[in-house]
Order: sequence, then structure tokens, then C-alpha cells
Amino acid sequence: MSTAATAEKIAPPEIAARVADVIVRGATDADTDAVIALIGEVYDEFQGCVLLIDDEHPELKEPKTAFERLGGTFWVAECQGRICGTVALTPTDAPRVARLSRLFIAGPARGRGLGETLCQLVEQTAKDEMQADMMMLYTDSRFLGAHRLYERLGYVRQPGLVHCADASNSIEYVYTKKL
Ligand SMILES: CC(C)(COP(=O)(O)OP(=O)(O)OC[C@H]1O[C@@H](n2cnc3c(N)ncnc32)[C@H](O)[C@@H]1OP(=O)(O)O)[C@@H](O)C(=O)NCCC(=O)NCCS
Repeated sequence: MSTAATAEKIAPPEIAARVADVIVRGATDADTDAVIALIGEVYDEFQGCVLLIDDEHPELKEPKTAFERLGGTFWVAECQGRICGTVALTPTDAPRVARLSRLFIAGPARGRGLGETLCQLVEQTAKDEMQADMMMLYTDSRFLGAHRLYERLGYVRQPGLVHCADASNSIEYVYTKKL
């Protein structure tokens, strides 16, 4: 097959957001290895955090399909062609309440507004496509930088803790934000 014919068949990714040279696009299932590598690297930064794909996060093996099946979306950020960030949006059982999850930014890509941009993309999509008026999220108590980001963006930590029976012995906070 000629290169021209191939090029015609591969639609360019729809860019959902941009931060300087970083583009944000909906994930494909082919992104799975890069997504798992990124989240694995981030988990390694935190004492006791273990990423078990088959047992605890099988959805990462098909990020597009798995999140679409839930009625949501999984996005990736690409820095110079490499995946350097992820975030996901899903509905919840509560009417008009949407959930932000899987927010991970590679170390070298941090501190220039990408995390904030991904949160804003999720919130805008939740409003536009799910008619959500409230966001919620769970965050590991070890993720201190994320707590600062969420609080700066107007998320409020709810009372109580969630003790997860997972391999990371996670203790999670719940945050909500009125949209
Ligand atoms: C939390 C996390 C997602 C933030 O991503 P990020 O891209 O660095 O986020 P931002 O750049 O929007 O904000 C981070 C910091 O950079 C600062 N910043 C943002 N844009 C900036 C700019 N242009 N110049 C200088 N500083 C800037 C912000 O003020 C913020 O400062 P703070 O850490 O002192 O609060 C990222 O650190 C991460 O992946 N952490 C590990 C995993 C994690 O905790 N995930 C959350 C799961 S619930």
C-alpha cells in the first residue's frame, strides 16, 4: 500500500486541549503500554504504592474501550510524541455527579499547568456532555501535590477516609466540587 493511501486512512487525532507543545487527545486502546508505564513510574514515587494491572486495574489494558463502556472518556497528554499524562471522566450512580480519576503527569512534565488543564477538560466535558453539576474524586492520602492542585481548583475535601482493601493499603480522601 502506498504511503499516501495509508495517510488517507489514518485520521489525525482530535486534539482536546493543548499546553504549549503538549497535546491532549482521547486515548486509544493501543496506548495501553505507554499508559501503564507512565502510571507505574508515578506509583514508584510513592512508598507502598503498587500497580497491579490484572487484579486491580484491568481497565488500563483497554483505556478507550473500558472507559467508553462506563459511559466516560480516558484522555492522554502527549509531550513530543510520548504519553506524559492521563486523566479520565466517568459518570457516577448519583444523578448529575461525575467522577474525575486517573490523573497522572510524568515527573518532567509537571509544574506547567498540565494537571490543571486536564482537570478543566474533565470538568467542561462533564458539564457539556453529562449535564453534571458536581464533580467528585478519590485521591490517595499520599498524593500531596494532587491535594494542593484540587484545592486550588476549588475542590473541597469531605469528612472521613476510605480504607481500601488493595495491595497499596490505600487510604483515600473524597473531594467534591460544585460546577
Ligand atoms: C498532581 C499532579 C497531577 C499535578 O500535575 P501538574 O501538571 O504538575 O499540575 P500543575 O502544573 O497544574 O500544578 C502543579 C504545580 O505547578 C505550578 N504551576 C503550574 N503552572 C505553572 C507555571 N506555568 N509556572 C510555574 N509553576 C506552575 C502550580 O501552581 C502547582 O504548584 P504547587 O505544586 O506548589 O501547588 C502531578 O504532580 C502528579 O501526577 N502527581 C503524582 C500522581 C498524583 O498525585 N495523581 C493524582 C491522583 S488522585
